[in-house]
Amino acid sequence: MTFPNFRRAHPNVAIVGATGAVGVELIQCLEARDFPVSRLKLLASPRSAGKRLPFRGGWLTVDALDDSSFDEIDLAFFSAGSGTSKTYAPRAVAAGAVVVDNSSAFRADPDCPLVVPEVNPETLAGHRGIVSVPNCTAIIASVPMAPLARAFGLERVQMSTYQAASGAGAAAMEELRASTEAFLAGRAFQPTVLPHPYAFNLFSHNAEVDVDNGYNGEELKVIAECRRLLGEPDLRIGVTCVRVPVLRAHSIALTLEFAQPVSPDAVREVLARAPGVRVVDDRAGNHFPMPCEAQGQGDVLAGRIRHDLSDPSGRSISMFLAGDQLLKGAALNAVQIAERLFSGGTGARSPAAALAVAS
Ligand code: A2P
Repeated sequence: MTFPNFRRAHPNVAIVGATGAVGVELIQCLEARDFPVSRLKLLASPRSAGKRLPFRGGWLTVDALDDSSFDEIDLAFFSAGSGTSKTYAPRAVAAGAVVVDNSSAFRADPDCPLVVPEVNPETLAGHRGIVSVPNCTAIIASVPMAPLARAFGLERVQMSTYQAASGAGAAAMEELRASTEAFLAGRAFQPTVLPHPYAFNLFSHNAEVDVDNGYNGEELKVIAECRRLLGEPDLRIGVTCVRVPVLRAHSIALTLEFAQPVSPDAVREVLARAPGVRVVDDRAGNHFPMPCEAQGQGDVLAGRIRHDLSDPSGRSISMFLAGDQLLKGAALNAVQIAERLFSGGTGARSPAAALAVAS
C-alpha cells in the first residue's frame, strides 16, 4: 500500500489527544499555519467527551476515541501516549488515513520514517501510513546539529538537558504550577504526577532507569533518535537528561566534536543560515538562549557558541540551545510533516514567522 498524497485537496483531519498539552498546540498550529483543513475532528478519552475547544473562531466538540473515529479521515495526528498509538494508529491507517504520531510507539520501526523536516525530509518518501515525530529533545538538538554535521563532519556529541514540565503532559505542567504556589504559601504538597518535589528543585529525568547501565529511557531515546535523524548509526553520543521547573521550553548544553578544527565564527555562520534556528549569542550583553524567550517560538535558539577549551585540537565547540517543547518539540514539527505530506512543500518559510503572522 502506498500513500502518495491525501485523498482530498482539503483533508479531513483528526487529533487524538486533542485535550492534552500537545493536542491543544496542534489545533493552534493548524489554525496559525492555515493548514487546509476541511473538517477537524477532536478525539480524547471518554473523560473529555463533550468538552469544547476553539478552532477558527468557533467551537468544536471533543468525541471519545473509538473504532469508528477514523471514518472519512485523511490525516490523523496522535498525541495520547504510545499505548493509544499502538492500538489505534494501525486502525486509522486501515481506514485510509495517514498518521503523524507524536508518541514513541513507532520511532524505532524502520517502516515508519522518523522526521524533522529541516533535518531529513527525504525520509518521508515511501512511508507506509505512519510517520513518527521524534522525541522532543532529539528534535531540538538535531535542528542545529544537522547543518553543522553536514558542514564540518560530526564525530562526537555530549549534551546535558534542562527539560520542561510540558514533556510530561498537561498534568505535569499543572503540578509545577500548584506545587510552586504551595511552596510559596508554605503549604505541604504531595506530588502525584512526577516522582519528586518540582517547585524550586530539579531531578534526573523521570523516565525509567536501566539499573544495569544507569541510563534512563529518555537518554536512550535521545541517543537512538539523534543517530537515526542524522543518518549516523554509530555516532558517539553521551547525554544526561534532567527535569527542571520550567513550564514548556527545553534547554540543552551541547558540545560537538567535529572532524576538523572549527571556529566559533564558522559555526555561527552556518547556524545563521540554517532553517529553524535563530542565533542568540550576545557575549557583551550576556544574553543567550533562555526558555522564557524560546517559549511560543517555532525556531530553536542557539548561542554561547565557543571553543571547548578542554579539547586543544580546536575541533570541539560548545553551545547552549533552547526550544519550545510543545511547538518545535512536538506540535509544530508534526504539522510541518503534514505540510510536506500534503503539498511536498519545502517548509522554507521560517516557522517562527508563520506562527507570528497568525497570532
Ligand atoms: P483526556 O484529556 O480525556 O484524558 P497530556 O500529554 O497532556 O497528558 O495529554 C494526553 C492526551 O491523551 C489527552 O488529550 C488525553 O485525553 C488523551 N488520552 C489519554 N488516554 C487516552 C485514551 N485511552 N484514549 C484517547 N485519548 C486518550
